[in-house]
Amino acid sequence: MNRRRVMIGMSAFVSLASVRLSRAAGPTIVVTKDPNCGCCNGWVDHLRESAFAVEVRDVGDVNRIKARLGVPDDLVSCHTAEVMGYVIEGHVPAPALRRLLMERPNARGLAVPGMPVGSPGMEIPGTPPDEYDVILFGPNRRVYARFRGATELK
Ligand code: CU
Ligand code: CU
Repeated sequence: MNRRRVMIGMSAFVSLASVRLSRAAGPTIVVTKDPNCGCCNGWVDHLRESAFAVEVRDVGDVNRIKARLGVPDDLVSCHTAEVMGYVIEGHVPAPALRRLLMERPNARGLAVPGMPVGSPGMEIPGTPPDEYDVILFGPNRRVYARFRGATELK
């Protein structure tokens, strides 16, 4: 291989790398969670695999941030995240999150209350996934999306 070929090959590689970077350079999702929560880490991995930039804040008391951000008691889950002024409570799948950021509805945020089996980060091998709603809340409330495990139901 001659020197020129190598240079061309390298510049192709560099531009591919920058495309990759720009894909992950969307808004950063700040996730507040308990340091000992395994399913929270599973959800963070899910976001990163879906090309979201994520910043993790481990805290001893996650209830404090839920209260501060106005997560309704009946929508509470394990972790709480913030992105572009929205509150994201629980194991919200990346496609619903992406849609929220595209549509920008007038709302406080999205929640998957509890911890449905099979939601991203809550996969339990050998256990069939639950069906669950992703709820758009504040000031009004409605079902924003419905999933079975990682699959959106339409
Ligand atoms: Cu969880
Ligand atoms: Cu969690």
